[in-house]
Parts: sequence; C-alpha cells; structure tokens
Amino acid sequence: MSDEVLFFQEFSITGGDFSSAGSVSTEIKSILKEIGFHPSVIRRAAIACYEAEMNVTMYAERGVVRLSATPAAIRIQFEDEGQGIADIELAMQEGYSTATPEMREIGFGAGMGLPNIKKNSDEFEITSEVGRGTKLDIVIKA
Ligand SMILES: Nc1ncnc2c1ncn2[C@@H]1O[C@H](COP(=O)(O)OP(=O)(O)O)[C@@H](O)[C@H]1O
Ligand SMILES: [Mg+2]
Repeated sequence: MSDEVLFFQEFSITGGDFSSAGSVSTEIKSILKEIGFHPSVIRRAAIACYEAEMNVTMYAERGVVRLSATPAAIRIQFEDEGQGIADIELAMQEGYSTATPEMREIGFGAGMGLPNIKKNSDEFEITSEVGRGTKLDIVIKA
C-alpha cells in the first residue's frame, strides 16, 4: 500500500543557535537517501527543510520538526514557539525579510526562503499566531 508509513521521526530546533543551524535538514536529507527516494525528490525536500529550519533558528525561540515518509510522499511539519508572523501574504513575497543586519552579514535575509519552500513543495500550508508561533506543513510527492 502506498500510504504505508516508512518512517517517522521528530527533531528539535533551538532558536538563535546558528552553530547547529542546518543540522536537522542534513539529518533529514541522509534519512531520505537511506530510504531510497529519488535524488530530485530529496533535493526539493532538503531545500524546503533547510529554509524552514533557518527561519525557526532566526525568527523563533524553539521548534519541533516532524518528518514522516510513505512510498508516495514526504511530509515535514514545523511547529515553533516565537513571535509569529503578522502578515503571511507579505512574508510570502519574494525579497521580503525582517532579518537583522547581523543576520544579513552572515548571508541570510534574501527574503526567498518562504517562496522557495512553496516552490519546492507539492502541498504547502502556513499558519501563524502573533506572539505564539508558526506552523508550516509541507508535502513533497515522491
Ligand atoms: N518561523 C517564523 N517565525 C516568525 N517569522 C517568520 C518565520 N518564518 C518566516 N518569518 C518571517 O517571514 C519573513 C520572510 O521569510 P523568508 O522568505 O524565509 O526570508 P528571510 O528568511 O530571508 O527573511 C522573515 O523575514 C520573517 O519576518
Ligand atoms: Mg528564511
């Protein structure tokens, strides 16, 4: 059956911890390779996952990531506690960023993360509550 769950794992992200930023996406990428997904599918998942992980690192206090994989699809859910996003439509626009000068100095803040996550996903859902946090639910079809 194609909806049989092949894999499920939870990860956590600590806001502001730039020294381990990207480690969840690296781990997820190697899990997806191990499972045997097509390289192009892994690439899309890895790009989306990295951008979402960096957003939690930069803009939230902490977050959890839930990875589930079936033969048909990879689903990655991000749930963070943090400032949230007041205007999602604005945040989704290419080039829009509230990155600080410090973040821009180390190469972040192009404002392309959310648009790229959406571009690389087959299903994309984002919800947010100001002062509480943000949830992102993406599916990449195998
Ligand atoms: N998890 C999040 N929590 C709070 N704000 C976020 C989160 N993810 C994105 N944002 C907001 O959306 C904006 C756009 O995000 P993105 O497209 O990834 O660009 P960038 O990360 O380069 O700023 C961010 O600058 C930030 O204001
Ligand atoms: Mg970003």
